[in-house]
Amino acid sequence: MTDQTLIAVKPEIAAGSHADAERRAAMVAEAAKDPEGFWTREMNRLAWMRAPTKIKDTSFEGDVSIKWFEDGVLNLTESCLDRHVEGGRGDAVAIIWEGDDPKSDAHITYRQLLERVCRLANAMKSLGVRRGDRVSIYLPMIVESAVAMLACARIGAVHSVIFGGFSPDSLSSRIQDCESTLLITADEGRRGGRTVPLKANADEALKSCPTIKNVIVAKNTGGGVAMEDGRDHDWATLCDAQSAECAPEPMGAEDPLFILYTSGSTGKPKGVLHTTGGYGVWAAFTHELVFDYRPGEVYWCTADVGWVTGHTYIVYGPLANGATTLMFEGVPNWPDSSRFWNVIDKHKVNIFYTAPTAIRALMREGEAPVKKSSRKSLRILGSVGEPINPEAWLWYYRVVGDERCPIVDTWWQTETGGILISPLPGSVAQKPGSATLPLPGVFPALVDNDGAILEGATEGNLVITDSWPGQMRTVFRDHERFVQTYFSTFPGKYFTGDGARRDEDGYWWITGRVDDVLNVSGHRMGTAEIESALVAHPKVAEAAVVGMPHEIKGQGIYAYVTLKVDEEPTEALRKELVAWVRKEIGPIASPDAIQWAPGLPKTRSGKIMRRILRKIAANETDSLGDTSTLADPTVVQDLIGNRVG
Ligand code: PRX
Repeated sequence: MTDQTLIAVKPEIAAGSHADAERRAAMVAEAAKDPEGFWTREMNRLAWMRAPTKIKDTSFEGDVSIKWFEDGVLNLTESCLDRHVEGGRGDAVAIIWEGDDPKSDAHITYRQLLERVCRLANAMKSLGVRRGDRVSIYLPMIVESAVAMLACARIGAVHSVIFGGFSPDSLSSRIQDCESTLLITADEGRRGGRTVPLKANADEALKSCPTIKNVIVAKNTGGGVAMEDGRDHDWATLCDAQSAECAPEPMGAEDPLFILYTSGSTGKPKGVLHTTGGYGVWAAFTHELVFDYRPGEVYWCTADVGWVTGHTYIVYGPLANGATTLMFEGVPNWPDSSRFWNVIDKHKVNIFYTAPTAIRALMREGEAPVKKSSRKSLRILGSVGEPINPEAWLWYYRVVGDERCPIVDTWWQTETGGILISPLPGSVAQKPGSATLPLPGVFPALVDNDGAILEGATEGNLVITDSWPGQMRTVFRDHERFVQTYFSTFPGKYFTGDGARRDEDGYWWITGRVDDVLNVSGHRMGTAEIESALVAHPKVAEAAVVGMPHEIKGQGIYAYVTLKVDEEPTEALRKELVAWVRKEIGPIASPDAIQWAPGLPKTRSGKIMRRILRKIAANETDSLGDTSTLADPTVVQDLIGNRVG
């Protein structure tokens, strides 16, 4: 596959789209020339209690300050719920829920959703939760997760959703960091026919979370769980006693909406903070434009609400646009690998948004499971979370989309709040594997390692030179870390941590992280987190973790482990360490390979040379580069000789 493979825009896709080539060009030009005018118009996508008069006040210099629509007042749930109900669309379906069990599903209208949100909001108030308080949410993919997020937004509480696959330890550290007072969870989750013991995990986590005063427990599987008197409350009992009306709390545009923890190259996960107005505008704007969402369409994003994709493209974006959003509890390959396609036919899904890792896994099953389904409702396909290799892109395009549906390969991050680089269907010819062009109002650039801007067709570090409304505002209670992490490498510019290439047509190709962050099946993980989990094991002296190429997951986790003197490297210990990391962080962090390393390649100042470890893990040992600066170059030969896999 070369950059030359161009798939032209089909006239039937461009016709009636929100942005054909001409319209896109006009928006791009206006957003660059007159950002105030452009965003004054676009902000009207939301319902404001008081319309903003100050539009943009942002600086990437010095202390870094980002404010959008600063004097506006709104409650995002009015945009997502009330105005649709008041506008006569109360009976339209807001959420289609498809259970793990193919026989279970539910349709929730906008009116029902509003009522459920208000009841929970009142229940939270009755437990003493106030505006600005943090609420942690640890739920499976059930409607309650959207209800819980929106109920927080209704009363101005700040939600922090924690992925249901995280361990008790990961849950408690995220609760401790933001000092939340309420946890919302469920008895158990369901995935691929198995149950996940959420309440039991929560009980374990809460042993070290003194700030939590109350726990609301949704009944999902009905599996019996322990309930602590005075602390734990049954969701239904609590909410049934509440009024179905709750006035939306007037929030400043720059008041916090949510915190979401994400991994970086160092330290523990950061609390990425998003605020209300700018994030809301960005969610609505990008959801409509990128997916060319049209009224009445059924839209399905397969992400989990525990990640930013679930926040922006299952909950806030689609609901702000009055869409029908599908929420799926299950997994792609259960009961069999036709599941996605069966769900698409069952609910007549028009727009389907998933991750390359799922596409690669399903591709391996061949075309038959796909071809058993009709998929004729599909109009747009999307990809997110990691670079999509051209082979997977073409399979998605040909086999799933029958060459009818454009693919939007959407590049963005937890920090960006929403999509920044993506084709807009109907406006841009596609190249398999390229995220194509920035959205209107997004100003990416490539810089070399010294920060000099690179022009033309080239490769470098991906930075963004000016703010967009959906940008994160700070790291919760650690603005210094925000400035340090994102604005100190290339002063005055937002550094994404990604590398990218721009081709001769100006198309962007994201090449992956250039820092010590891994992307495993679209899940972002810091090597430092996995290393500290490993060294917490009593038999481990030292550990170094790197990514290795993995056919399905994109990247696998390769760990080099040095044991304490007198410890024996055995198969049993290897298994124990894998289980240890699963318990410390969660199953998504399980190492794919552990290599016993009597020594690690270090410089004379003691810094581990990860470049060499990455090469060995990738089995590219003939291009190790310069090893002469190592304190002890002989360790390299030993590591090569004992490579795993
Ligand atoms: O490396 C990029 C990769 O995922 C990282 C962001 O991860 P996270 O904050 O968990 O958000 C994932 C969902 C947006 C990025 O720094 N990434 C995300 N989307 C793409 C991508 N890499 C290439 N192409 C994409 N479309």
